[in-house]
Amino acid sequence: MAVSPEQHSSTSHFVREIEKTDGSVLKVYQYSTGDVGCVVWDAAIVLSKYLETDQFCNSRSGASTWSSKHMLELGAGTGVVGIMAASLGANVTVTDLEDLQPLLKLNIRENRELLSTGSITAKVLKWGETVTDFLPHPDYILMADCIYYEQSVVPLVETLKILAGPKTCVICCYEQRTMGVNPEVEKRFFELLLQDFEAEEVPAERQDPEFNSPDIHILHLRRRQG
Ligand SMILES: C[S@@+](CC[C@H](N)C(=O)[O-])C[C@H]1O[C@@H](n2cnc3c(N)ncnc32)[C@H](O)[C@@H]1O
Repeated sequence: MAVSPEQHSSTSHFVREIEKTDGSVLKVYQYSTGDVGCVVWDAAIVLSKYLETDQFCNSRSGASTWSSKHMLELGAGTGVVGIMAASLGANVTVTDLEDLQPLLKLNIRENRELLSTGSITAKVLKWGETVTDFLPHPDYILMADCIYYEQSVVPLVETLKILAGPKTCVICCYEQRTMGVNPEVEKRFFELLLQDFEAEEVPAERQDPEFNSPDIHILHLRRRQG
């Protein structure tokens, strides 16, 4: 279903602009009411800007590590991370629950002029449900702020185990929260995940110099071999 910003039922939208290194601007529509996926979370900005850092992208030549890579984003929300990756040449599938599909499709449409070399498609993927449609294994799985919900820990880890092949790198960005159930959810998630994956944390100096924060972490996760 194609939804224009004006058509979205009863809720108003507001736009978050994210400037890319090449000076172009990503315009991300968010809704003022709705579930958590309707707005851009800080971890998504940190991850988007990390993808653009010069270790991966040469702003002069336009060459990019992500070019032609197959990427799958889980819990994409507004789709900002996936749209950034596609604007850097990746072939991306952004996924989230059914309710988020109109917003994902709206943001893909509104940023189409930034997608000259890469491609992007929005699809429904609910953690813990059948994900064989998303195989073969992608080169990269992207996740921003997806570790926050107690009931999702087991299904999310199971989904990652199915989707990540021996060569897949999961780039997981999350905000470390100290309130309520968050520390316990995070602990449980990593206890389970690290049984099958090894993690390497990206130090602050390899992140975007402006868009980083001590409480937002970026991990590269790969399946343990053998
Ligand atoms: C905190 S939001 C983060 C959204 C976006 N990645 C960002 O950082 O701006 C978490 C996202 O996970 C999605 N999500 C939650 N439970 C899910 C599930 N069981 N299957 C798929 N997506 C889910 C939500 O719909 C939401 O878009």
